[in-house]
Amino acid sequence: MTEKTSSLLGIIGYPIGHSVSPVFQQAALNHAGIDAKYLAWETPPENLSDRINSLKESGVIGANVTVPHKQSVLPFLDNLSKTAREIGAVNTIVNDKGVLYGHNTDVFGFMKSLHNDGDFFADGGQSALVLGAGGSAKAIAYGLLRDGIKKLVISNRTLSRAVQLKKELGNPENVFVATPESTDMLRDHHLIVNCTTLGMKHGPGEDKSPLSPEHISKGTVVFDLVYNPRRTPLIKEAMGIGARAISGLPMLIYQGAEAFRLWTGINPPTEVMFDAAENALKG
Ligand SMILES: NC(=O)c1ccc[n+]([C@@H]2O[C@H](COP(=O)([O-])OP(=O)(O)OC[C@H]3O[C@@H](n4cnc5c(N)ncnc54)[C@H](OP(=O)(O)O)[C@@H]3O)[C@@H](O)[C@H]2O)c1
Repeated sequence: MTEKTSSLLGIIGYPIGHSVSPVFQQAALNHAGIDAKYLAWETPPENLSDRINSLKESGVIGANVTVPHKQSVLPFLDNLSKTAREIGAVNTIVNDKGVLYGHNTDVFGFMKSLHNDGDFFADGGQSALVLGAGGSAKAIAYGLLRDGIKKLVISNRTLSRAVQLKKELGNPENVFVATPESTDMLRDHHLIVNCTTLGMKHGPGEDKSPLSPEHISKGTVVFDLVYNPRRTPLIKEAMGIGARAISGLPMLIYQGAEAFRLWTGINPPTEVMFDAAENALKG
């Protein structure tokens, strides 16, 4: 008698030990009664091509992609969604009979999380400050511009990366670049988004906030992409001032839920995913 093997999914990154995606995606698969295993596929850059090719096998449904492969994975894919092509980054791959489709659900996750308790733009959100100029900053800047932000400042420790990001966004006239020292440009924004790694558990800047509290006011929405810990130094600053503070966990879940929908075609059990991730982060 041959043993029935489960289908496979996984997250591709390097390193990958910190990721909570295997926990909440497996919980969602189990809840939906889908016989599939979601694995952590630690993949150093030199093995990326082999890893991506292995996704074409018949038992593989697809994958998530994380740091540092979101951009370098593009040449190995057969098709890209409009968003993935325009951002130049993929976080979700779907295997359709050996043809690999690349998607980017980070923008969806961010926007859904931002609008969760109110329409940010209708609430007067016209100016945003993005801290950082790496992969996630690009997705966030793309989403905010696409949805009509009037003014966007990108502040980064390394100014040349902010300049490069502005160029990649098509050099829009309403995008400005700054460094953490350009204090005048960091003031008076409706939204502040931390896209740096500062505040991340076990990271070198674990106890640091990317912004001084003097740049936050009560009416500011402060969004920290860092999700571990839930209360980062920036989130604590914002809460202390009475500003609306959003942790990176809802974005993580919503991008994962959208990936789940792309893989399975069914509505993701979002609450199950939240519970599993929150439990994993407590441990
Ligand atoms: N919640 C979610 O769903 C979600 C999704 C994506 C990413 N994230 C989180 O977002 C963060 C950024 O991810 P990423 O992919 O954009 O990373 P990345 O491409 O490596 O970019 C890192 C950014 O952090 C800045 N940075 C690093 N160390 C710094 C320091 N000591 N002082 C000031 N700036 C510093 C870098 O500045 P330089 O250019 O000067 O080096 C760069 O702008 C990570 O914590 C990641 O876990 C969360």
